[in-house]
Amino acid sequence: MGTMLDMPTDKLRIRVCTGMHCSMDGGGNPLGRAIQQALTDAGVMDQVEMWSAHCLGECENGPCVRIGSDRFYHIHLEDVPQLVRNEILPRIGR
Ligand code: FES
Repeated sequence: MGTMLDMPTDKLRIRVCTGMHCSMDGGGNPLGRAIQQALTDAGVMDQVEMWSAHCLGECENGPCVRIGSDRFYHIHLEDVPQLVRNEILPRIGR
């Protein structure tokens, strides 16, 4: 995952919060890796850009993930398959 700020892209941008609160709540890097693995398994990593975020400003609702301009809260490892199937793949036309 990169850490650069917003830049123009035609890929779906997925930002996983790796801030302290979200990481302590079970998100952070392990969550980002799980999403990345699921997208790799689905063969769509070339259609997304994964980024980390130091804080998405919603610590009390963490772990937080942003997909495009939409935010998702309380996302844990066990939620990754559903998140990918229901929220990521449809956004890239799959
Ligand atoms: S640490 Fe994740 S939203 Fe603040």
